[in-house]
Amino acid sequence: MEKEITEKLIARALKARELSYSPYSGYQVGAALLAKDGTVYTGCNIENAAYTPTNCAERTAFFKAVSEGKRDFLAIAIVGGPAGETIAQYAFPCGVCRQVMMEFCDPRTFEVIVAKSQEEYRIRCLQELLPEGFGPSNLTE
Ligand code: THU
Repeated sequence: MEKEITEKLIARALKARELSYSPYSGYQVGAALLAKDGTVYTGCNIENAAYTPTNCAERTAFFKAVSEGKRDFLAIAIVGGPAGETIAQYAFPCGVCRQVMMEFCDPRTFEVIVAKSQEEYRIRCLQELLPEGFGPSNLTE
């Protein structure tokens, strides 16, 4: 991914984080998912008083995209941290979100960008985060 595109995606994730609905954890997450056609789908975490219905920012972005007909993706930028504080840590995606990525992305090429800011980020391919993952090819090949 070009540096400029990476930084733009992080900016979109930071903006999406502002919409986080996280009254229980106080931990705000934003994500921006880049589809192969160039469209960006953003997401935030959405918590629930019953706790388990909570949806992570990454899955919000994926489900928005898939529900609008997109199934091919290049990269996702993720930012997360406690509300009201500057982001001090990289928010790597949870296991469930990694599995959702595995459903729609090529693990060798899909880029997971975790960021503290537009200038400070790390990039991992999905395969590094979910080695030997179970995916659609297990059922078809
Ligand atoms: N969360 C995400 O949005 N993405 C992750 O990958 C990890 C966790 C959210 C869920 C919950 O609202 C809050 O962060 C604390 O776990």
